[in-house]
Amino acid sequence: MLQVNNIEVIYNQVILALKGVSLRVDDGKIVALLGSNGAGKSTTLKAISGLLSTELGDVSAGSIEFDAQRIEHSDPVGIAQMGVVQVMEGRRVLEHLSVEENLRVGSLRRNGSSLKDDLDKVYTYFPRLRDLRQRESGYLSGGEQQMLVISRGLMAHPKLMLLQSRGKNGAVARGAKRGGRARHRALRVRDGKWPRGVGRRGGKIARE
Ligand SMILES: Nc1ncnc2c1ncn2[C@@H]1O[C@H](COP(=O)(O)OP(=O)(O)O)[C@@H](O)[C@H]1O
Ligand SMILES: [Mg+2]
Repeated sequence: MLQVNNIEVIYNQVILALKGVSLRVDDGKIVALLGSNGAGKSTTLKAISGLLSTELGDVSAGSIEFDAQRIEHSDPVGIAQMGVVQVMEGRRVLEHLSVEENLRVGSLRRNGSSLKDDLDKVYTYFPRLRDLRQRESGYLSGGEQQMLVISRGLMAHPKLMLLQSRGKNGAVARGAKRGGRARHRALRVRDGKWPRGVGRRGGKIARE
C-alpha cells in the first residue's frame, strides 16, 4: 500500500512544484491522477519512484510510505527493489533491441517464476507483442511501443506500477486493468484527454 501524505516538492531549491498533495493506493486498487499540464502529476510520480533526485527535485515536506516504510528520501534503486516500477512517459523502448530482448531486460531484477512463464503472461495480455517478438522495437508503432513498455514493467513483478499516459491510449487502460487483476497495484495517470464524466478542477490534481 502506498500513502502520500501532504507532500511539498521543490526543484532547484527554489521552484515550488507541489504543495499539500496526498493520495493513497490500497492493495489491488487502481488510482488515477488527473490534472492539466503543469499541475504536478509527473512530479508526484517521480517523488514516489525517487527519480526526482535526478532532476534536482526534493520532497521538502510531508512523507511517502510504501509498505509501511518511509521512502521520500530513498534512492530510486532502493525504491525499485522494493517493487515500485515507473513506466516513464514517452515510450522509452530500447530501440535497437527486439521486443523480446526488451522484455528480458525488464525481467533482470526479478526472481521467482520462469522467464518463459512471464513472457507467456505478457503475450497473453498483449497478443500483438507475441507476433512482433523478433521485431526491432524502434520500428513498432506508438501504441505497440506503449504495450511494450508496460509489459517490460510487468516483467519485473512490480508491487506498484506507476504509469504515465499521454492522450487516449487503450493499451495503457488495458495494461493497468490486467496488471490489477494480476495483483499489481497501479497508479495510472493521463495527460490531455479527459475520460467521460471526470471533470478537471481548476488546474488542480483531482483524485478519483
Ligand atoms: N525538472 C524540473 N525542474 C524545474 N521545474 C520543473 C521540473 N519538472 C517539472 N517542473 C515544474 O513543476 C511543475 C509541475 O510539472 P509536472 O509535474 O511535469 O506537471 P504535469 O505532469 O502535471 O504536467 C510545472 O510548473 C513544471 O514547470
Ligand atoms: Mg507530466
